[in-house]
Amino acid sequence: MTAARDALLDRLSAHRAAIEGVSMRRLFADDSRRFERFSVTLDDLLFDYSKTRVTAETVALLVALARTCDVEGRRDAMFAGEKINTTEDRAVLHTALRAPAGARILVDGRDVMPDVLAERAKAADFAEAVRSGALLGATGEKFTDIVNIGIGGSDLGPAMAAIAMSPYAQDGLTGHFVSNVDGAHVTDVLRPLDPARTLVLVASKTFTTLETMSNAHAARQWLVGALGEEAVGAHFAAISTNVEAVEAFGMSEDRMFRFWDWVGGRYSIWSVVGLSLTILIGPDAFQSFLDGGHEIDEHFRTAPLETNIPALMGLIGIWHRNVWGYDTHAVLPYDQRLSRFAAYLQQLDMESNGKSVTRSGQPVSMKTGPIVWGEPGTNGQHAFYQLLHQGADIVPADILMAAVPHEHVGDQHAVLLANALAQGEAFMRGRTTAEAAEQLIKAGKSAGEADALSPHKTFPGDRPTCAIVYRTLDPRTLGRLIALYEHKVFIQGVIWGINSFDQWGVELGKELASRLIPVVKGDAGTEALDGSTRGLIAHIAALASN
Ligand code: F6P
Repeated sequence: MTAARDALLDRLSAHRAAIEGVSMRRLFADDSRRFERFSVTLDDLLFDYSKTRVTAETVALLVALARTCDVEGRRDAMFAGEKINTTEDRAVLHTALRAPAGARILVDGRDVMPDVLAERAKAADFAEAVRSGALLGATGEKFTDIVNIGIGGSDLGPAMAAIAMSPYAQDGLTGHFVSNVDGAHVTDVLRPLDPARTLVLVASKTFTTLETMSNAHAARQWLVGALGEEAVGAHFAAISTNVEAVEAFGMSEDRMFRFWDWVGGRYSIWSVVGLSLTILIGPDAFQSFLDGGHEIDEHFRTAPLETNIPALMGLIGIWHRNVWGYDTHAVLPYDQRLSRFAAYLQQLDMESNGKSVTRSGQPVSMKTGPIVWGEPGTNGQHAFYQLLHQGADIVPADILMAAVPHEHVGDQHAVLLANALAQGEAFMRGRTTAEAAEQLIKAGKSAGEADALSPHKTFPGDRPTCAIVYRTLDPRTLGRLIALYEHKVFIQGVIWGINSFDQWGVELGKELASRLIPVVKGDAGTEALDGSTRGLIAHIAALASN
């Protein structure tokens, strides 16, 4: 399979060489139906990849690559609950978390759906009780503030979604998110809150993560300081796969929400890790979010690769990363409430595909996951787009936009959309030196001035973007967007031959941090450390003692 894959990649490289001289301007000029040919709709969702440097032959070769790598077989294995996370010997079934009642999904011969549905119902009941005021704090007050303590996948999903879904949040309920072990985070989040009206959710798949446990203890102290030890039970709940550790923390059964080892942390928003979101937007809206994810699962499972949106997203990413050699990928939502979407996708993509050995432990023979980054437009335009337009690196980007905003503030949505569309056009078309000079002359510059300035005002163009358009950023759409990117990441991992579902790369830093904690506290010596680390610790100690 590897030889066949590499042969296809060679063909893609040769194909790139053959079409490299043809600009996107020319591709559009030569084909009045290019947009229709290189875009896919799934009811109100549109994926437009016509502003990338692809032709029909590119798509055919990319699809052949996917088939050669048995993307469809691996996809079916994932949905069927096979243990495709081989280094952890686990199934990968976040898709089960959004499957409807009636589905039957087996892990080790046992249907996981009854447990999934029971836990979903338990979370929904709890959320409803908090929202309605049936469940009160220790002093009889209604909860107004929900604090989720977690990090990575136990934080980024609900934190991102709470912002994205703010129009759907119940009045009088506010979500807060504490993740960093920096004591400033928990302090700043808790300081303005009233403990009597605060519900704390401790979310951790393992329930051993240092940051989360430290912050949970700090929040517990804060609560006990105000309301006493006996209030803890009424103000805390835990979300985890580690029942023993939750019990050891002192949490009762009815305050424990479970998920399972076949849910990766970065894929856990669909599980009870979404409890804070469920409380904020309500179980019905959370169900719409799950339904949106499930709709994409069905599309991914059944649509031919040629019109399969996540497959195309993944394949175009391969084209950019492995054939054109682009190192990063920008996510540019023209939707302010997706302000944490790029951060969320960073974990999803970079923790999944930031690997350099294959599933069988051999070094990979090609580049794997790109650096993923981004910020909402139009803010980014006034910060880093200069480099995107004229920098020496080419950065492929996704531009996301909603047709219908939640708020109609003057003509601002039209202005927002015009900017999103203009950027896509500018990245694609660029501006030639002759066009720049002509514009300068028209603006009254002399021929000499135009000559001098026009190189600076030239835009190379041919910078690829994909547009993702949806009606409105509602719960269903958010579920769809996340699931699209999850499957994109999956496809790429299959083609690269890596395991997208482990994350051993975060372990070394954790181990070294544990070793350094006593050293930084002054309880252990620095003799065994390298010179730089020793020097830094001495410098910090000197500053701290003055
Ligand atoms: O950073 C590593 C990691 O294991 C992530 O994969 C995970 O989302 C995060 O830590 C938090 O882990 P936990 O949910 O177990 O606290």
